[in-house]
This record gives sequence, structure tokens and C-alpha cells, in this order.
Amino acid sequence: MKIAIMQFSGTGNTYYISNLLRDFLSTAQSTVDLYPIEKISDPNQIISKCDLLGIGYPIYGSDIPKPVRSLIERFDNFQGKRAFVFCTQLMYSGDGAAYVAKMLIKKGFSVRQLAHFNMPNNLTDYLNFLPGFKPSVKFEKRKRRQAERFAKLILHDRKRLKGMNIFSNVLGLLQRFPFQKFEQSMYDHAIKIEANCIGCGRCVDLCPVDNLTLESGILKENNRCILCYRCINHCPVNALHTSKNHLTKHPYQGPVNGFRIDDVMKEILSERT
Ligand SMILES: Cc1cc2nc3c(=O)[nH]c(=O)nc-3n(C[C@H](O)[C@H](O)[C@H](O)COP(=O)(O)O)c2cc1C
Ligand code: SF4
Ligand code: SF4
Repeated sequence: MKIAIMQFSGTGNTYYISNLLRDFLSTAQSTVDLYPIEKISDPNQIISKCDLLGIGYPIYGSDIPKPVRSLIERFDNFQGKRAFVFCTQLMYSGDGAAYVAKMLIKKGFSVRQLAHFNMPNNLTDYLNFLPGFKPSVKFEKRKRRQAERFAKLILHDRKRLKGMNIFSNVLGLLQRFPFQKFEQSMYDHAIKIEANCIGCGRCVDLCPVDNLTLESGILKENNRCILCYRCINHCPVNALHTSKNHLTKHPYQGPVNGFRIDDVMKEILSERT
């Protein structure tokens, strides 16, 4: 069985879970390819060549990141093709995975498994009163167990539709409705650049939507931000944030020690064998 996982990850949480799933789903009978959504040019070609599709993304106000929405909107109809969906979140999204499942069902997919993975805080300016996350063996073990359980359901094709019920849908809507209402105003010139910027260009390289450019050593914001928080957490001098009132106190460097944020953008990662 050929499995394709398409994932978007702003700060590494979804990428980390995607990798765990890839490891647990790679067996003698199944191969797994992992695709970063920000680099996919022809999703339909990938889907037509796989037997099972996985979609992973972070939750933004019980909603989904813009690149994930526009990717799914480009899908052709794949009647009966099996799919699973997982999202990562800080606390709660209600129907975070079911929301995308419904989009896929409209495109003909047979969605069999949904999962929510609770992960560390990446809103390190806005929620800067929370303590910084420290990677630990205990955390890793917990996430590995959860990913292994989810992978087993997928491999045995056992249905598990987390959040696909009226109660979760209402709770999801309660967050999604205000988020979508104020979404555009939140995105509008979302990134504030402090005077301590050293013009290193790290944020320019990391941004998934080319929102930042360096012009004669001066950083410019191009009003295309999708609030993924990648640049905010990886500026070496904490010069970026979304509001002057919320400075980044404990930048989030990823869920495990030695995590490399550049990896979330790697073109295609094939199974490890
Ligand atoms: C703009 C934004 C909005 C968020 N909204 C929620 C939310 O409504 N509920 C929640 O539990 N987590 C929320 N989070 C937290 C992320 O979903 C969570 O940290 C996720 O694991 C980040 O994944 P990533 O590292 O792959 O980008 C939000 C994060 C961002 C950046
Ligand atoms: S990463 Fe930080 S210091 Fe480097 S260009 Fe961006 S804002 Fe400036
Ligand atoms: S500007 Fe920063 S937060 Fe906005 S999309 Fe680019 S990397 Fe993400």
C-alpha cells in the first residue's frame, strides 16, 4: 500500500507528528511519502499515485491554515479513495480534524480516521505568560504512543472519527466563527518588526508565503502573513511579534531537542527503510 501524507507545519509540531506516523505506518506492506504542503505544486498527481492519503495541519482558531484550505480546494474528485486526517493543537479545537474531513468527503474521499494531537504552545508572543516548553523524554513517549495507536487504526482500517459529532461541531464553530470574522484584520500587517532586527534574513528564508523581504538590509513585511509563527519563534534576536504589547519571551524551538525548523520545508521525505 502506498501512503502519501501532505502536511503543513508552521513551527514543527505537525511535522513531528507526521514523522512519527510515517515511522509507524512504514511496514513490509506499506510505504510512506511525506509532502510539505507549502511545496506541493500538483496535489492531484500525488493523490492519483497513492492508495491512502493523510492530511496534517495545525489548528488556528478551530480553523485551518490558508495553504491547507487552498490545497484541498484544488483536489479533483477521488471517489472512494481512503483518507485520514490529523491536526495538532495547543488545547482544543472541537471538530478540528472533522472540519477537513468534511471538505474531503465533498471531494469523494472515504475518510476513515481522524485524530487531534495536543502539542506545546507556539503562540509565544500572544500567550507569553505561559512558561516556555522544555522537551522531555516523557513528552516524547506520550506522543509516540498516541501516534502508534493512530497508525494501528489506519493500518487495520478501523474507523475512528474524532470530533465528527454535533457537540464537537458546535464547540468548533464557537471558536471558528469569531476567528473567521476577524481573520483578515488579524492577518493585515500582522508582523511587527522591532528596531533590534540585524537583517540576517533568517525569517525571509523560513516564511512559507514569502511575506518578508530584505531590501538594502532593511526587512519589509508584504501583508501576506498566515500567522504560522515560524519567523517569530526563530528570529535569533526576538525582533518579530504580532503585537507591540506582546513580546516573545520564550521562543518555541520545536517539540524535541535538536529539532531543525528548516526540515519542515524539505521537498519530499520518503520512508525510512
Ligand atoms: C494563529 C494560531 C491560532 C491557534 N489557535 C488554536 C486554537 O484555536 N486551539 C488550539 O488548541 N491551539 C491553537 N493554536 C496552537 C497550534 O494549533 C499548535 O501549537 C500547533 O501544534 C502548531 O503546529 P505547528 O507547529 O505544526 O505549526 C493556534 C496557533 C496559532 C499560530
Ligand atoms: S530573523 Fe530577525 S534579525 Fe533576522 S532579518 Fe528577520 S527579523 Fe531581522
Ligand atoms: S511572516 Fe512569519 S508568521 Fe507570517 S507567514 Fe511568514 S513565517 Fe509565518
